[in-house]
Amino acid sequence: MKFFVDTADVDAIRELNDLGMVDGVTTNPSIILKSGRDIMEVTREICSITSGPVSAEVVSMNAEAMIAEGRKLAEIAENITVKVPLTWDGLKACKVLSGEGKMVNVTLCFSVNQALIAAKAGATFISPFIGRLDDINLDGMELISDIRQVYDNYGFETQILAASVRSANHVAQCALVGADVMTAPPAVIKALANHVLTDKGLEQFEKDWAKTGQKIL
Ligand code: E4P
Repeated sequence: MKFFVDTADVDAIRELNDLGMVDGVTTNPSIILKSGRDIMEVTREICSITSGPVSAEVVSMNAEAMIAEGRKLAEIAENITVKVPLTWDGLKACKVLSGEGKMVNVTLCFSVNQALIAAKAGATFISPFIGRLDDINLDGMELISDIRQVYDNYGFETQILAASVRSANHVAQCALVGADVMTAPPAVIKALANHVLTDKGLEQFEKDWAKTGQKIL
C-alpha cells in the first residue's frame, strides 16, 4: 500500500520522505489554510520534495472553471494530481482533465455509487473519506472494502486512495482490505511505529543491559 501524506507542512514531508515513507502528498483548501502559505508556492515546494503524485484541489463549483483551475495547477509540476470534488461538475472536469493526460483525484467520496461513476469518468484516484463517515456513525472501512470489490469485479484501474485516515488502526485496516493508497497526517504515520509492548520490552532490555556493566561503543 502506498503512503501519501495529508499535509502542506514541508518540514514534516521532508522528514517522512527521508525515511522512504512518502509515495505522494494530498492537500485540500483546509490544509492550505492551515499552512498559511500561497497555494502555488507551497505546492511547488512540495513537488520539489517528492516525485510522487501531489494532489492540489480546485475550488470552483462549475466544470468550466474547475478545468481552467486544474490546468493552471497542473502547470506547477509534472507530478501534480488535480483534485476535483465528487459532484456532476467535478466528474465533467475529471473526464476532460484525465483526457488531457493529467492525473485526477476525485475527492469527497462517501458511497460505492460515487466511486463507480468517478472510475467511469476516468479518475486516477478515488478518495473515500473514512474518518468523516465514522464521525456520523457509519462504517468508513466498509466503504473501502465495498469499493475494492466493485472495482475488482469490473477491472477498473482507478486507485482507491483511502482518505480522512485518523488512526493507526485505520491504516492497518486499509492495508487489510486492499486500499491502493492511504493518505494520513504526519502524526498518524509516525504513530505506526508505536506499540506498548515495544516500549515495555525496551525498558526491560535497558535495565538488564545496565546490569551487565558492558558497553558496545
Ligand atoms: C485528503 O485528501 C482529505 O482531504 C483528507 O484526508 C480529509 O481528512 P479529514 O476528514 O481528517 O479532514
